[in-house]
Amino acid sequence: MADRPLATLNNPDTVLETTLRPSVFADFTGQVKVKERLEISVQAAKQRGEALDHILLSGPPGLGKTTIANILAKAMGANVKATSGPTIEKAADLAGLLTNLEEGDVLFIDEIHRLQKTIEEYLYPAMEDFKLDIIIDQGPNARSVRLNLPRFTLIGATTRSGLLSAPLLTRFGMRERLDYYDAAQLQQIVLRAARLLNVEMEETGALEIARRSRGTPRIAGNLLRRVRDYAQVRHDGRITETVADRALAMLEIDQNGLDEMDKRILETVIVKFGGGPVGVSSLAVAVGEEPDTIEEVYEPYLIMEGYLQRTPQGRVATELSFKKLGLKPAGGKQANLF
Ligand SMILES: Nc1ncnc2c1ncn2[C@@H]1O[C@H](COP(=O)(O)OP(=O)(O)OP(=O)(O)O)[C@@H](O)[C@H]1O
Ligand SMILES: [Mg+2]
Repeated sequence: MADRPLATLNNPDTVLETTLRPSVFADFTGQVKVKERLEISVQAAKQRGEALDHILLSGPPGLGKTTIANILAKAMGANVKATSGPTIEKAADLAGLLTNLEEGDVLFIDEIHRLQKTIEEYLYPAMEDFKLDIIIDQGPNARSVRLNLPRFTLIGATTRSGLLSAPLLTRFGMRERLDYYDAAQLQQIVLRAARLLNVEMEETGALEIARRSRGTPRIAGNLLRRVRDYAQVRHDGRITETVADRALAMLEIDQNGLDEMDKRILETVIVKFGGGPVGVSSLAVAVGEEPDTIEEVYEPYLIMEGYLQRTPQGRVATELSFKKLGLKPAGGKQANLF
């Protein structure tokens, strides 16, 4: 992508990431409803010969936001200029990006929740009316100049749509939230990646990796690579269910795919806070993580899988969490929740 430093292109992980990244909707598994809505918008915009509406993609890391942004641009036959919220430091940086766009181009802003407020305000008229008001010169000579911008499409990606201001949110014609993938979808993703990497893979081996990937394609891709190494060194290279299981056990990936932080969170709620309820900020301090990260990255998966419950009083560990850690719910106040 345009502003990615060249050095990262030599990184094998980056190269792999590029090869595995689906470039058309047909190769993109899952997120069925999101995909359908986006494909219709693309087709309609193309029929009318117009630029695509501005689109906001939100959801936990590694679920395919960047991938979808690229698929959309390709489907529209548009160029992508990619940047991210924190790299736009001054209004001039944004003006530079916007004035370099051509009709129909896609401007991709990753981590858009990290845009500064002052810069966000320049974006409003640009998104709505395709105009940019810039101030040139300083002091008594300062004057505002209005520039016309080409019709472009802004695609914003964020892991924290809750942090976006209402004026910015409402200027996106489409807002789509990506959700965790189920094991069957991840299995398809793993099988496709294995084909692309020329790895011999049994369906059951792919399912084992899928089950333990925390609902996340990026994690599935990473685990596939580690399991491939193991299969190659300790076996004949073929990934069977047993080989996958042994490799994942060696990597200390939990049977349910929970990672270290997931387990620390559950353990903290249970051991330090007696099973809860505990507020997210106290929990964050206790596990040494940002409250936002707990809320946007860890908690959604733990809630979806039934390990945690969100109540008005705070987070509560479920019976499943106690079982997972081999503990019994105490007779305390949370016991009557089961
Ligand atoms: N539906 C999918 N099918 C196949 N591969 C996928 C799918 N979604 C994501 N991937 C793969 O997962 C990896 C991560 O996806 P992507 O970079 O798009 O995530 P993201 O949502 O932008 O994450 P972040 O929030 O960290 O930027 C990519 O390498 C991509 O190949
Ligand atoms: Mg991304």
